[in-house]
Amino acid sequence: MSGRTAALIPAAGRGERLGPGAPKALRDIGGIPMLVHAVKAISSCPAVSIVIVAAPSDNVDEVTALLGQQEFPSDVHVVAGGDTRVESVARALINLPDDIDVVLVHDAARPLVPEEVVASVVSAVRAGHDAVVPALPMTDTVKRVDTNDDVTATLDRSTLRAIQTPQGFRREILQRAHAIADDEGITDDAGMVEALGITVHVVPGHEEALKVTRPFDVVVAEAILAKRRSLGALG
Ligand code: CTP
Ligand code: MG
Repeated sequence: MSGRTAALIPAAGRGERLGPGAPKALRDIGGIPMLVHAVKAISSCPAVSIVIVAAPSDNVDEVTALLGQQEFPSDVHVVAGGDTRVESVARALINLPDDIDVVLVHDAARPLVPEEVVASVVSAVRAGHDAVVPALPMTDTVKRVDTNDDVTATLDRSTLRAIQTPQGFRREILQRAHAIADDEGITDDAGMVEALGITVHVVPGHEEALKVTRPFDVVVAEAILAKRRSLGALG
């Protein structure tokens, strides 16, 4: 594999679980929009050459202006996202230059992913895995329940993982998955690749790659940022 790596950042969600306000990617973490953190985190990885952001369709100009004000280590482009995450990723995917052979998909909602996670996903794809996801072991006990909220099973936690992004793919594999995608119940790109019968490989994720979903997650993300800023001030 001799091409370049692109990162697609779906950022077109409304952030309904975060409560009323601007689209989630435009809300601040420590005074800086979540999307700016996410683009910085991904583009700081030297392996990433180009970033394509899928913005909320009503905010494309605003997002273009916002990202245009910043200096990022890679080229950054903005396209209009769609009504579902799958559609937003698909709209970014059709804008890829020809020489890209590895594609990352990273949620804008994971603004603080450490560079080492991004690098290890890219390396694992370049080492020969078709599809790679970062993952953490489960810490809670996980049970299955029925519609009456009665427990029907306790799952073997040692075989379970919580999956994060960026997820990395050989370009052709991700395009094949999107070509036959059925949006129903899809929350990540690796799930679509699994549906093709292709093996998805897991590498270590990181607690700081948490997904900002509810207001409590903003508190945690701001604490992580405050810790990094104080360590940076010390160093
Ligand atoms: N996303 C997207 N286009 C959509 C829906 C979601 O690009 N139509 C993106 C979000 O912007 C986010 C990622 O997919 O970066 C993961 O989605 P999620 O955390 O569910 O974000 P939201 O959809 O914004 O949040 P909510 O479901 O609470 O509305
Ligand atoms: Mg959502």
